[in-house]
Amino acid sequence: MSTLTSPFTEESPGPPAVTRGEPSPQAGKESPLLREARKRRTFAIISHPDAGKTTLTEKLLLYAGCVNEAGMVRGRKTQRAVTSDWMAMERERGISVTSTVLGFAYQGYEINLLDTPGHQDFSEDTYRTLTAADSAVMVLDAVKGVEPQTIKLFKICAARKIPILTFVNKMDRPGGDPLNSLSEIEEVLGIDAVPLNWPIGGGAEFQGIYDRSTRKAMRFSPETHGRLKVPFEAADLDEADSILPPELSQRLKDEVDLLDGAGAPFDRARFLRGEQTPVFFGSALTNFGVEPFLNAFLDLAPSPGARPSDRGMIPPEHPGFAGVVFKIQANLDPKHRDRIAFVRVCAGKFRREMEVTLARTGEKIRIMRSHRLFARDRETTDEAYPGDVIGVVNPRQFRLGDTLCEGEAFQFEGQWDFPPECFARIRCADTARRKQFDKGLNQLIEEGVVHVLTGDGVNPREPVLAAVGELQFDVVRFRLESEYDTRTTVERLPHTLARWVDLEGVDLSRVVLPSSSRLMRDQLGAALVLFTSEWEMAYFREKNPSLELLDVRSHNAGRPTGKRE
Ligand code: G4P
Repeated sequence: MSTLTSPFTEESPGPPAVTRGEPSPQAGKESPLLREARKRRTFAIISHPDAGKTTLTEKLLLYAGCVNEAGMVRGRKTQRAVTSDWMAMERERGISVTSTVLGFAYQGYEINLLDTPGHQDFSEDTYRTLTAADSAVMVLDAVKGVEPQTIKLFKICAARKIPILTFVNKMDRPGGDPLNSLSEIEEVLGIDAVPLNWPIGGGAEFQGIYDRSTRKAMRFSPETHGRLKVPFEAADLDEADSILPPELSQRLKDEVDLLDGAGAPFDRARFLRGEQTPVFFGSALTNFGVEPFLNAFLDLAPSPGARPSDRGMIPPEHPGFAGVVFKIQANLDPKHRDRIAFVRVCAGKFRREMEVTLARTGEKIRIMRSHRLFARDRETTDEAYPGDVIGVVNPRQFRLGDTLCEGEAFQFEGQWDFPPECFARIRCADTARRKQFDKGLNQLIEEGVVHVLTGDGVNPREPVLAAVGELQFDVVRFRLESEYDTRTTVERLPHTLARWVDLEGVDLSRVVLPSSSRLMRDQLGAALVLFTSEWEMAYFREKNPSLELLDVRSHNAGRPTGKRE
């Protein structure tokens, strides 16, 4: 499909150049592999529902030349829902449950946007997707500020030190206050917020943005109503009167004076360590500020870097190919009923039909069917570089978190499960569908949609499911019914927290378990304690001081490893 590689042909009078980040991808005399890696920007957008993630995504595609007119992505959403039956659930509820990957080229860069579910009750899928990103864009609603889901996703990024750029959207709505937005980011999220541009006016008066590095003001014309690229005029701050009404121009100069005299300067090293977020203002709906943001993003966001493994740090220029399975999805297209493993290339070059080692088992596998993805469309890919995401079709042996590599096998670290917060018993309502029930459930477990837990007192015919978000149980029921023709009932359990625990060599008779807590094993055999409250968890800690409670479980083995709480 041509949209995958569509070149940016239409020359727009681009915004002022920014030179605060990495050298342009054409610069330098690196190896071809490193040059390709440096061209890549692989990121995810985090936001609360309705903050404007879909609108911004669409406008980034518009500026990258992938769509000629805004409105097409939403159109595609509807089309997709029609061609993929379980996506009907998304359509029915107006939510996005699964993640997709959008890959596109722009000004010599290869951009991979990892899309994440947009529902409040989002799932581990989002968390895992963030592990495949090199940076994140946080979209805030200028009027509503930092909302609950943003906080949750921000915390995941912060824990992984993923650099975050902030786009304060909807500046065209009345009630936004840029200074408030900055202080809210700092107070609620605990990160330094450094504005790299500043809005000119706000609400109905929002006319443009001022770029602090070039000291230029840009005034946009609203006539394309956001459907097409927005035309603009630019002027130095001293000459802002030439493009702005005198009172707006004066207000801008006063605000810039205030800004220049206050706050920490932007420090890219701190941004890359996740300590500082550069902030941009704009309106995705009207396209005001979208193009300068895209250009600044390319300049500031990191290209793929070295990733930790059990053999030390593996840089992208590592000679052999290495990648991680971060998502598995079956039945994307009901006509084919196939299964795709999404692999993030972390090092080396991927080639079609290459043989790789599955690090977990040592098995050699030839990858015959590999695709690049654009939303749910696919095209066969012959090669891929660090930062790219490829879809491998029907990889029966692959599990979430698996490392695939060429040459000596090693396992990337950092692909974890997150502790579930919702638990439920599932029953197959129709005993004649038992086989389909088991098959479907196994499929969903392999995809990581839910975990299945075993333990004393659990009837194997009524397994206990565990998930990060409650919506996952609806997804399980819906998919079992629509893909495996099996109706089920789900009964919630009272537990709200779980932690992995290393029980190797531990005398189980000495473990003190609060009365409502349960000790169980997940599908990889790792022990997990389920609690009904924080209090109960604290009690467990107090009574079992030698046992470590872990909030991550590595995929490297059945045994839990991870950080101490
Ligand atoms: P999401 O993916 O984060 O959930 O948000 P989405 O882009 O779907 O945007 C949510 C709503 O906010 C949409 O309105 C969208 O048009 C609007 N919106 C997005 N960006 C801006 C902006 O910069 N300014 C203003 N004023 N509105 C913005 P809707 O009425 O829910 O949907 P629609 O009828 O426009 O499709």
